[in-house]
Amino acid sequence: MLGRPFHIQLLDAEGQRLAFTAAPEQSVLEAALAAGLAPRRSCRNGSCRACLCRLELGQIAYRIDWPGLSAEEKAAGWILPCVAEARSDLNLRYE
Ligand code: FES
Repeated sequence: MLGRPFHIQLLDAEGQRLAFTAAPEQSVLEAALAAGLAPRRSCRNGSCRACLCRLELGQIAYRIDWPGLSAEEKAAGWILPCVAEARSDLNLRYE
């Protein structure tokens, strides 16, 4: 493990608040699945956008150079958790 796990709070599309932890080397999606959650997903490589959610608080880093998001979407806080690693505690919201 590279560092301390980060605390992630997730508000799902049904308005349910969920929480889990993610190690810095785990993708946010991998961490959610390891915690027994089942967020939307498909390709797991940053191209299909099935996992799209909004980052309301915190910092992430992408595993790939060009995740399937436009610059405008990134600026608006949209992220792809299948290829994003937490770099701080995070608050996420699914719509
Ligand atoms: S699961 Fe396909 S982009 Fe995340």
